[in-house]
Amino acid sequence: MSIQRKLFLTFLILFNLIFLASLLFLQAEKSYSIKGAFVIAIAISLLLSLFLSYFISRRITIPIREMISAAKDIAKGDFKRIRVDTKDELHALSEILNLVSDELKKKMDEMAEGRTRLDTILSTMSEGLLAIDCNGKILLVNPVLPRMFELKREPVIGRSYLDIIRHNQLNNIIRDVLESRQSIVREIEQFFPEERYLAVYASVAKKIKEGGVCAVFIFHDITKIKRLERIRKDFVANVSHELKTPLTSIKGYTEALIDGAIDDPKKAKEFLNIISNHTDRLNNIITDLLQLSYIESGQYKPKASKAGLKAVVDKAVGLLKANIEKKHFALNIQIPEDLTVMADEDKLNLVFVNLIDNAIKYTPEKGAITIKAEARNKDVLVSVSDTGMGIPKYDLVRIFERFYRVDKERSREVGGTGLGLSIVKHIIESHAGRVWAESEPNKGATFYFTLPIYYPLPLGEREGGGEMNIQAIKGVKDILPGEVEVWQYIENKARAFFETYGFSEIRVPVFEYTELFSRSIGETTDIVEKEMYTFEDTTGKKITLRPEGTAPVVRAYIEHQLYNKSHITKLYYLGPMFRHERPQAGRYRQFYQIGAEVFGIDSPVLDAEVLSMLSNIIEALNIKGLDLQINSLGCKECRPKYKEALKQFLKDKHPVLCENCQRRMDRNPLRVLDCKSKTCKDAVRDAPVILDYLCDGCKKHFDKVKETLKTLNVLYTLNPMLVRGLDYYTKTTFELVSTNLGAQNTVAAGGRYDGLVEELGGPKTPGIGFAIGMERLASLMEKDNFKTNKPDIFIATLGDKAKDISASLIDSLRKKGIKAETDYEGSSLKSQMRKADRLGARYVLIIGEDEIKNGSALLRDMAAKAQEGIDINNIAEVLAAKLMMPAK
Ligand code: HAM
Repeated sequence: MSIQRKLFLTFLILFNLIFLASLLFLQAEKSYSIKGAFVIAIAISLLLSLFLSYFISRRITIPIREMISAAKDIAKGDFKRIRVDTKDELHALSEILNLVSDELKKKMDEMAEGRTRLDTILSTMSEGLLAIDCNGKILLVNPVLPRMFELKREPVIGRSYLDIIRHNQLNNIIRDVLESRQSIVREIEQFFPEERYLAVYASVAKKIKEGGVCAVFIFHDITKIKRLERIRKDFVANVSHELKTPLTSIKGYTEALIDGAIDDPKKAKEFLNIISNHTDRLNNIITDLLQLSYIESGQYKPKASKAGLKAVVDKAVGLLKANIEKKHFALNIQIPEDLTVMADEDKLNLVFVNLIDNAIKYTPEKGAITIKAEARNKDVLVSVSDTGMGIPKYDLVRIFERFYRVDKERSREVGGTGLGLSIVKHIIESHAGRVWAESEPNKGATFYFTLPIYYPLPLGEREGGGEMNIQAIKGVKDILPGEVEVWQYIENKARAFFETYGFSEIRVPVFEYTELFSRSIGETTDIVEKEMYTFEDTTGKKITLRPEGTAPVVRAYIEHQLYNKSHITKLYYLGPMFRHERPQAGRYRQFYQIGAEVFGIDSPVLDAEVLSMLSNIIEALNIKGLDLQINSLGCKECRPKYKEALKQFLKDKHPVLCENCQRRMDRNPLRVLDCKSKTCKDAVRDAPVILDYLCDGCKKHFDKVKETLKTLNVLYTLNPMLVRGLDYYTKTTFELVSTNLGAQNTVAAGGRYDGLVEELGGPKTPGIGFAIGMERLASLMEKDNFKTNKPDIFIATLGDKAKDISASLIDSLRKKGIKAETDYEGSSLKSQMRKADRLGARYVLIIGEDEIKNGSALLRDMAAKAQEGIDINNIAEVLAAKLMMPAK
């Protein structure tokens, strides 16, 4: 029954029932006349039926309200089901609503799945993708595209491509596609941040809706193909040229012979000799080409095994002996007889033949050739020097390229193929070595290369080795016993100072989300642009091995709300950092820092105190020759004015700046002051300095820092050109520079970073800190004063019984903290004494069969060369007492 009818009937029945009941009741009371009773009964029944109808109608409106609320939730995407237990239209309506909700949910799930699939495809594509509407509005980009075109971080969707993409060739393509509504395939070039070639595939949508996708552009990186194409073309051109020169000559002389020269025996002989020389040259070129293509083909794997270096050199020299003698060279070979490398002997022979042959060719008569080799930590460094014409500096970097010649004519004259050094390079690199050249024109040239040193393999693996040694990754350093004691000493001293100054240690992870570093260190810094070790984890998130410690410490400071715990927070850390820099002395790809950070105080006195702590640590380590350079980088009020002035100054210098600086000049001109390129250094010599642009606040702050440094007797040099390689600094910045290190001479560096905590999402909090480079600091320490782990006592045994006793004796001594060693191999007493001496043992205890019988043993003081008998049961006590005293 319909609700309307239900309500009407309910009302009617109620009315009648109540009317009858009231009438009967009033009549029964006899107090009313029939007419009066009738009117009152009507009134009562009307009121009661209205009241009852209200309750009944509520039973209807409640489910309706529920349905309205459910419908609203469904509209918001919350697909719920409704239950109405009546058997009327409300029930039917609720069922329909439930059906709609289910259908909608299914559709939404399908859409979400489709979206996820699309996102996955877009984010796993190696190509860039851009979709735009017919007005040039960007509708979709995949994650690769912003990286390809260095698009800024702000949202690009919904904006015109002309506002976002700064690439003329690409903008022209987009314009052509939108105008012609034709699909296009074209190539474009990029020069920044690096040279890159992209193939652009543009397709136009078949059906175009207003505001819908009009054209889709796919960008495929074809740089590798282009480079290979260029290499192939250059190679073919070079080979053709090299082969053509002797062939033209051969043809010319053959024709001259045919034309009559053959009848002149003298000329005929001369021409035939020339032809023979040219055929030799052709033969050499072809042999070298075959060698090179074999080594480069990837089929060549060096059959490396133990090779005596001296013997290989002698063999190569033997092959070239006639030429060496002909030119009266002084040959000087300085290679230890027992020096062995892991190498393919035949190929190594080829390396020496090529290098010595070059030395002979380019050195005048009576010159000298020196071949040296020395073992280093893990490899052997070999050098071949001559006293010849040398190689200009510019050519040194290209000398190993195929067919690259310093002096083309001369090279051909002396019979060079232009491939020898290229072969050398490939052979050495296939042995995991490195090759380079140094030279002073007209004084001579030296070719250096490294090869893995040969270490005997463990027994059982010695025969038939042949595989290359696995070596540490380039640019990392093992800290071996002997050196590690220096590190421990530095760490202990630093810890002690930090604790005195109220610092607590913090240990933060070695990897963090990449964004932490790009946001804090700065997108246009060398570290973020090219030095970070970044990878994607299995969820596709970008992770970076920390290139420095400040950003992770700030992240932890914010994440754990350390600012709520104390007004000032002082933290220190020790650990490895990772930067993909070009390795050189003092510059590593994994290096260690000792760092300190203070949060919460912006007083200049704190700046001076932090610097004083750093200088006290250095003084306690007894390191001399360090210069503390300080500067102020201003704040966000005054630095923009300085930046503008610097930009203006740099405008004229643009053509002489290096590519990097030209690119970064506009966004971050301060980087140019920090550039290591000589032309950039020269260009900024007269640049304006920031100290002239400081606002009053920054100036006062810096003046107070300098004043307090003087009070604390901390010596410093003012360096107004000092800018740091990280963008977060404000006000005071500093570097501790050594005069005793090479190019990498900054031992520690740091400064104030008052905006960083806020920048990374924390409350406005000033900060200051520094980091010391461990490798650089350790290299400045005197190594001789550090004792290695020498035993207190060495137990020399004679016979099996003594060995058994020695085992438990050693155990009990070690439990008492006495450093004890013994011999495990059953060597003679003499050799055990030698071992004890080598280990640097302070005492030797000699136990033999007789000593056991007597219950005594012989204790020898190695420094005093004196011995005494002691009770075998009291050894630990006697020794403990003696060790308290300095050795005689
Ligand atoms: P940084 O100047 O990049 O500053 O590095 C600090 C020190 O770490 C350098 O002075 C140097 O001694 C050492 N160092 C840097 N890179 C290498 C490398 N590739 N090989 C060997 N040593 C290296 C920072 O890292 C800032 N977080 C310092 C700081 C802390 N500022 C405020 N608080």
